[in-house]
Amino acid sequence: MVSDKINRRLLTGDRPTGPLHLGHYFGSLKNRVKLQDEGYETFIIIADYQVITDRLDTSAIKENITNLMLDYLSVGLNSKKTTFFVQSMIPQLSELTQIFSMLVSTSRVGRNPTVKEEIKAMKLESNVSLGMFSYPVSQAADILLFLPGVVPVGEDQLPHIELTKEIARKFNTAYSEVFSIPEALLSATPRLMGLDGSQKMSKSRNNAIFLSDSTDEVRSKIKKAVTDSGSEIVYDKNNKPNVANLIDLYQLIAGKKVEEIVGLYAGKGYKEFKEGLGEEIVSFLKPIQEKRSKVTEKYALEVLRQGNKKALEVAQSTLRKVKVAMQMDYRL
Ligand code: TRP
Repeated sequence: MVSDKINRRLLTGDRPTGPLHLGHYFGSLKNRVKLQDEGYETFIIIADYQVITDRLDTSAIKENITNLMLDYLSVGLNSKKTTFFVQSMIPQLSELTQIFSMLVSTSRVGRNPTVKEEIKAMKLESNVSLGMFSYPVSQAADILLFLPGVVPVGEDQLPHIELTKEIARKFNTAYSEVFSIPEALLSATPRLMGLDGSQKMSKSRNNAIFLSDSTDEVRSKIKKAVTDSGSEIVYDKNNKPNVANLIDLYQLIAGKKVEEIVGLYAGKGYKEFKEGLGEEIVSFLKPIQEKRSKVTEKYALEVLRQGNKKALEVAQSTLRKVKVAMQMDYRL
């Protein structure tokens, strides 16, 4: 049985919607690099079809894929240990999605809180595409086709992993034990708030520091970051939530404790604090950007080409097992 031995294969992924930022770094990339270096056989899916669940404009996807690869390689994900691939280039994913859509009821799919929230946030209520409604089924295929033991994700993805496990069990019971039952792995770092004080650092809210931001961009973004009334640097989540958020960011970036940071700026104001934070971020990003400057686009795309090739082999092998289990491996 696949699930009996310890399964050190890992799969996770991103939608290619734009450059990665510090929220991605502390929320997932750092952890991915760590797991990769601990010996997990890592698969990263660039989920391009999933992008068009909520927008039809495809003009930026190719460029976003290239930039995503540059972001990945610059933070230390490594082509020797990690297989990067593009969702739309693995046709077996679409086939498996087709099969999985028969193993789950529409009411079950309709109960996914993350999808509900996304529909609300995009104001799509009256115009939800079937693809948007059912993308967690496609995501279950993204995961299960590669037979991973673990899936490191953010909290918002947990409903998708639950569904994935249900589908895997349903298939294994209906046909035969093909799929491993993967476990979600939540990274310990809390989600970074935006520089505008909103709940989440994100590209669409224009409140993020990208891994590829220049020194000037970093300085100017931090200068404009929202603070609170008063001028003292104190860590008080209730009364000074924005300053507390910036201290949290400082903490992560500089690897310093809150008290240390507060002590450093005792008797000083927001200006000095922000300048200090800005410089910490600049030096934090320096090695990442140095690495990025050494990676050519050509190399990044070659890594992806090799990854696609390897992913395709795994995909073919699993889909063959699926069809054998279903007695649909016709040899006509
Ligand atoms: N839904 C994920 C996100 O928006 C991206 C994704 C697609 C994914 N397929 C996946 C994540 C498979 C983990 C495993 O972040």
